[in-house]
Amino acid sequence: MGLFSFTKELAIDLGTANTVIIQNGKIVLDEPSIVAVDTRTGKMVAVGHEAKLMQGKEWEGIRTIRPLKQGVIADFNAAELMIRGLIKKATPKSSLFSPSLRMVVGIPSGSTEVEIRAVRDSSEHAGGRDVYMLYEPMAAALGIGLDVEAPEGNMVVDIGGGSSEIAVISLGGIVSNKSIQIAGDDLTADIQEHMRRAHNMKVGERTAEEIKKNVGSALTELENPPEDFVVHGPNQMTALPMEVPVSYQEISHCIEKSISKIEAAVLSALEQTPPELYADIVKNGIYLAGGGALLKGLDKRLTDKIGIKFHIAEDPLLAVARGTGVALKNIDRFNFLIR
Ligand SMILES: Nc1ncnc2c1ncn2[C@@H]1O[C@H](COP(=O)(O)OP(=O)(O)OP(=O)(O)O)[C@@H](O)[C@H]1O
Ligand SMILES: [Mg+2]
Repeated sequence: MGLFSFTKELAIDLGTANTVIIQNGKIVLDEPSIVAVDTRTGKMVAVGHEAKLMQGKEWEGIRTIRPLKQGVIADFNAAELMIRGLIKKATPKSSLFSPSLRMVVGIPSGSTEVEIRAVRDSSEHAGGRDVYMLYEPMAAALGIGLDVEAPEGNMVVDIGGGSSEIAVISLGGIVSNKSIQIAGDDLTADIQEHMRRAHNMKVGERTAEEIKKNVGSALTELENPPEDFVVHGPNQMTALPMEVPVSYQEISHCIEKSISKIEAAVLSALEQTPPELYADIVKNGIYLAGGGALLKGLDKRLTDKIGIKFHIAEDPLLAVARGTGVALKNIDRFNFLIR
């Protein structure tokens, strides 16, 4: 294909934490949603992985920006630079021919007109000619492999970096959805706060995220507990270096408030679900997607609390992206795509 096709087709999950790009059914890019900019010229210095390495280490000539906050574009210029940069990185060869670019981009289900417009505009400015959008929970369901067009209810819970979205899908549409702006970034912030209060240690966002991935837990008792995670950092009183072993139990306590808000959102989405669909969901279980699905003990906690089985999607971090890829292949068939 490549050489002779004049339309480049990309499916994009533009996430608060990570952007994933799919071309011809394959993942061609999976990088953090961050861009480093030269503060004098406004030009891009680095994007994705390289920009993330610079995070927290900048001087006044360089600034790193995460253009999305809570699932939506918060910095329009930076978003455009980032999308352009990531597309170029994902498809270095085809740029020679600059073919026309068709894109399917995932958007949060609670998006306002203005937010949808922002995604469309940045995608177009980044080179997209033919831009389609798709609600992320629908994309997650497609990515998980659910039959979204069937007369059957399925519930998907997508816990990303910036927002958690819960949706019930049936007959090719979103029957009901609930979106809250409590997600992975908030857990990371809870951990930063905890390290400061309990250990007098200042830690950056990157370190707090590492703590979360290693010893983050939604339960105070885990069947397969991880070993304590040793964190190095400055004592905030003395500025002297120190070393603190952090246990999953203490992290489970410090993120408890945020986790219970996510839990409450799932319960409230269930309450709003019509009975026939509710019965399907009890039978099928509920699917967890997004990076938050990987939090230790979360599936068990929700299963025990709610009494419905929660399944972690295969590759939860990639479910939305894979679903946008499926949508791209079925552009003429799926009428839930937004133009
Ligand atoms: N093993 C893990 N345990 C807990 N959290 C994790 C783990 N791995 C990744 N995460 C978190 O998942 C989040 C990223 O998930 P994801 O890529 O699905 O978000 P996103 O799609 O970029 O954000 P959004 O959908 O909110 O715009 C980050 O907050 C990250 O710290
Ligand atoms: Mg996401």
